[in-house]
Amino acid sequence: MKNRHIVSALLCSLFLMACGGNASQMAVSEKSLKEVVGDKFLMGVALNVRQSSGMDTSALKIVKQHFNAIVAENCMKSEEIQPKEGEFHFEDADRLVQFGLDNGLTVTGHCLIWHSQLPEWFCVDDKGKNVSPEVLKQRMKTHIQTVVGRYKGKIKGWDVVNEAIMEDGSYRKSKFYEILGEEFIPLAFQYAHEADPDAELYYNDYGMDVPGRRDGVVKLVRSLKEKGLRIDAVGMQGHMGMDYPDIRQFEKSMLAFAATGVKVMITEWDMSALPTAMRSANVSDTVAFKKALNPYPEALPDSVSQVWNERMQQFFQLFEKHADIVERVTAWGVTDGDSWKNDFPIRGRKDYPLLFDRNYQPKDFVRKMIEEASDSVTSAKK
Ligand code: G3I
Repeated sequence: MKNRHIVSALLCSLFLMACGGNASQMAVSEKSLKEVVGDKFLMGVALNVRQSSGMDTSALKIVKQHFNAIVAENCMKSEEIQPKEGEFHFEDADRLVQFGLDNGLTVTGHCLIWHSQLPEWFCVDDKGKNVSPEVLKQRMKTHIQTVVGRYKGKIKGWDVVNEAIMEDGSYRKSKFYEILGEEFIPLAFQYAHEADPDAELYYNDYGMDVPGRRDGVVKLVRSLKEKGLRIDAVGMQGHMGMDYPDIRQFEKSMLAFAATGVKVMITEWDMSALPTAMRSANVSDTVAFKKALNPYPEALPDSVSQVWNERMQQFFQLFEKHADIVERVTAWGVTDGDSWKNDFPIRGRKDYPLLFDRNYQPKDFVRKMIEEASDSVTSAKK
């Protein structure tokens, strides 16, 4: 090879290495949470209407970069979708689903049958009396099949029934239960499956570390399977605090649900960094506002933030440890400022429960995971 060719070849390779180095460095520095998670499980996030309608562009940038699954925080609930019998409002839900399709995100439907955020007309007649079982069955079927049918082939799976089992394993005495007894749950799963046979179907609840609820949900899943009904996963909402749940009990529940032959999903993950006022995600529970329960109105002290990050990392490692049974981990909001925990169970307090802060920056445990994964990629390239 002529000398000048050797020199140009050397210069060229040096240039490529420089670009390659910079490029791989750029690629590494742009590693994202979903890349860190890889194919272990889907990394999801709940979107509010400001986000799904494209108004919160900073949040959407985070969603596109760090997540590969989304769920509607509120816009698919029955009070939003069918506030009056026969009057369906799909605009917000359509925009969320389209955002998911446009960005290659897996979309989950939340939620078809729930005792809360239920329009007043759903279970009573025009005199306010409970409707007959036949009328309620028809109303459930119409609601479920109209909603699921609309998104057939677009929504991967549905939270078919939400929060129907109490801490002692008994059925919540909702209107659905009052009128139809235990049958309302298999009926809901049947109606959803008829509307989209390919859709995955989930049972979703909070406080799933509690042994009584764990046993009640196991019994429920088994009964659905014995009836030959489709149920693909149990959704463990994962609303946590600094002193609950016990991670060992949470893990025990994950394994108990998986032992029934379904997958596990962490569907609404957040961890309040504030003193626990009460263990509940039942939105109708409230506690009188107390200053003591809103101790960090300006910012979270580093000492508390460190404990919070360590605890979140422990749970994330638990999910990764059981990646064989965990299909999805969804954060219940994009940034701390979006969280329902800022007003629950105490209105007007400031909480710090999510994976990204109010400046749209990843929390320390998220940043650490990304950096560690990026370093391993960089070192692998050397
Ligand atoms: O959209 C209206 C707005 O027009 C009105 O001005 C405002 C007045 O307060 O209310 C707005 O609706 C609120 C809605 O969130 C949207 O922000 C409702 O009042 C409020 O009750 C609703 O809270 C949601 C709650 O479910 C009840 O639906 C929370 O955002 C949402 O995070 C929470 O999520 C639930 C899951 O669906 C099920 N698991 C428990 C979890 C936490 O409760």
